[in-house]
Amino acid sequence: MDFRSSHTFDECKRNEGKKSLDLVLDGLKKGSAPGMEWTGWIDYPDEKMAEDIREVTAHIETIEARDLYVLGIGGSYLGAYAAICALEKEGVHFYGNSFSARDLERGLRAYDPKKDHVVVISKSGSTRETAMAFRFFLEKAEAAGADLSKSVTAITDGKKGKLHDFAEAKKIRRFVVPEDMGGRYSVLSPVGLFPMAFAGVDLEALMKGARDAKDAVARDPKNNRAVDYALARHGLRSEGKVAEIFATYEPRLAPLGRWWQQLFGESEGKEGKGILPLTLTYSTDLHAMGQWVQEGPRNFFETVLYAERSGSDLKIPAMAMDDGLDSIEGVAVDDVNRAAFEGTRAAHEAGNVPTISFVYDAFDAYALGEFFYTMEYACAISAYFQGVNPFDQPGVEAYKKAMKERL
Ligand code: PA5
Repeated sequence: MDFRSSHTFDECKRNEGKKSLDLVLDGLKKGSAPGMEWTGWIDYPDEKMAEDIREVTAHIETIEARDLYVLGIGGSYLGAYAAICALEKEGVHFYGNSFSARDLERGLRAYDPKKDHVVVISKSGSTRETAMAFRFFLEKAEAAGADLSKSVTAITDGKKGKLHDFAEAKKIRRFVVPEDMGGRYSVLSPVGLFPMAFAGVDLEALMKGARDAKDAVARDPKNNRAVDYALARHGLRSEGKVAEIFATYEPRLAPLGRWWQQLFGESEGKEGKGILPLTLTYSTDLHAMGQWVQEGPRNFFETVLYAERSGSDLKIPAMAMDDGLDSIEGVAVDDVNRAAFEGTRAAHEAGNVPTISFVYDAFDAYALGEFFYTMEYACAISAYFQGVNPFDQPGVEAYKKAMKERL
């Protein structure tokens, strides 16, 4: 993976960034940084992850199911959803991530308790969207006489919570969301591994990518891509950039943008601070937001995830027709996409939009593991730069409370 930032900071900014980084790294080393009890994900892609992969895979092998229904919201589904879409896997469906009756009904119509498996994922074990969906799926499973111990799996806290207690009482197989890992930092734990394993994702490659990113951070804490990215964001924020657009050039990576958005949004947006994280898919959204990006207010920057090889070798066919494509007949569609990426980046930079690029050769399971870890680390450092705890989300309670009052 190649990292590039278009913006150069003056010496004073660079020194200020280095000083902030020293303080943050010192806090992490000494264990005095806020939320240290939630940093289990930092060392996880090693023995612990390998063990969870073994356990999850062994359990998946015992499941004879057509499709998997994943019930969860926020950090309890976005990572797995992103991975399954990015790697174009099938047979896994996601529900319990809204209060939409129509959505739920569609899932229930398709779900066959005799053929399908349900995994309910909730660290707290009491999130309403998930609990509500679970109740409906469970009702259908019980009505069909399904053996819950075989057709349902729960991923939740290891010791407590309503879901933990229910699963234990019903002898439902449980996996644990590690105690020291918050939802949005849990994609590499059973939370993400279970749906990915069911879908046939190469978990060894995923782990290798994550471990390489972890080793890069450990080897040289001040010089690695995660820190480079965090420093670039920090500098841009201090120059008045209030928003960040995360763009990909592949529709299959759009859900990865949603994962990235949740990670940064929930980790940074507190105490009146944070960079607004937005995500777009190019070139699709260049026909919707391209005008705004090129000529709107200059108070944001753009971070692009681009993969050189899509895995397709489609070439533009030669045809006798007047559609303006004659000059690029025989050109690979990947090369057209590359021209779009390079041209758009040049145009946006010329329009005073600082750009950051993560360029991968191919975006496969290895790259995904590397990306997940790099972003988690960069996000934690970024939040610390702003002086906020990356691992809590006190603001999320407000809507829950107001909603509860109305119910
Ligand atoms: O990142 C987080 O902690 C949140 O987004 C949670 O994952 C989300 O609210 C779901 O919580 P739970 O897993 O407890 O149901």
